[in-house]
Amino acid sequence: MFKAIYLTKNDDGGTVAEVKDLTEAELPEIEGAVTVAVDYSTINFKDGLAITGKSPVVRKFPMVPGIDFAGIVHATNHPKWKIGDEVILNGWGVGESHWGGLSQYARVSGDWLISKPTSLSSKECMSIGTAGYTAMLCVLALERSGVTPQHGEILVTGASGGVGSFAISILSGLGYQVVASTGKKNEHEFLVSLGAKEIMDREIFSTPGKPLQKERWAGVVDTVGSNTLANACASTKYGGVVTACGLAGGMDLPLTVAPFILRGVSLIGIDSVMASKDVREKAWNRLAKDLKPSVISEIAKVVNLQEAIEIGGDILKGVIRGRVVVDVNG
Ligand SMILES: NC(=O)c1ccc[n+]([C@@H]2O[C@H](COP(=O)([O-])OP(=O)(O)OC[C@H]3O[C@@H](n4cnc5c(N)ncnc54)[C@H](OP(=O)(O)O)[C@@H]3O)[C@@H](O)[C@H]2O)c1
Repeated sequence: MFKAIYLTKNDDGGTVAEVKDLTEAELPEIEGAVTVAVDYSTINFKDGLAITGKSPVVRKFPMVPGIDFAGIVHATNHPKWKIGDEVILNGWGVGESHWGGLSQYARVSGDWLISKPTSLSSKECMSIGTAGYTAMLCVLALERSGVTPQHGEILVTGASGGVGSFAISILSGLGYQVVASTGKKNEHEFLVSLGAKEIMDREIFSTPGKPLQKERWAGVVDTVGSNTLANACASTKYGGVVTACGLAGGMDLPLTVAPFILRGVSLIGIDSVMASKDVREKAWNRLAKDLKPSVISEIAKVVNLQEAIEIGGDILKGVIRGRVVVDVNG
């Protein structure tokens, strides 16, 4: 028997989340299956949506949520993996359409796993988690587009959240001047400690603005969407690059084409879920190289499976600072 967060639907169509004892025989079958003894998982915004049922991210019930995990191969039918290998997983629909990592054991396709970077512990990998990996995908996109520290300031929105915190830390470590937009007055000191050189109130971005505004940003990491992303595009400098990865403020995008056709601004979509193995390995290798261990532990706090259910609701309220790591054996 092992423990997992187990999601079911009640008679009213609401989602019920509980910590339940399961057996290995109940884990879903899949081609090239690898069963992983999970060390750590995390609570991401999407896990909050799954646990609360606030948005239909879960494709079938019952479901074990958890879009990422780190652990050790316990059994394998996949040629790449052997028992005892240390692995990590992000995305691939795990925790949405396939049982996920908020569990002491997970059975997934071996094609979805990558090796854990040797210089990072399982706990550090999940402290970084999908949020840090997504932040790195944004940074890699800015670099690929030729945005260097010499080009000017980078705006990070949703700054105190998981993606935002890691984006600030990575970018400032690489020498970029980072401006952080946050709704949390009590987290200014934290954001400065991560490397933000200026803090802006998120209200400035979250109300509707003009199609073209004063040019300021060489690059943007946006985790919020909606008016915030529209205003960020409208205030990006000529030739600047905006990376869009989130929807914490809404799914809509009330934007005009003006920034693109008059200022040559690029808007780049970032997806962590279906990114290729090469892209994942590149991002994780850079995370292992570019992040300081002290920053990783500063950004993350650890909870157990039962506590994770409550945190699932809190993350949607935008009240969590940094990352929540789940010790599934805690
Ligand atoms: N594309 C991908 O593959 C991918 C991967 C991971 C995450 N995401 C998405 O990226 C977003 C951030 O993820 P996360 O894990 O960093 O979540 P998070 O830890 O909950 O952070 C989101 C942050 O956004 C800000 N925020 C919350 N509600 C807001 C609102 N109504 N208006 C404006 N800002 C608001 C808050 O920061 P402040 O208080 O500091 O403003 C909050 O801490 C989510 O939408 C998530 O689904 C996408």
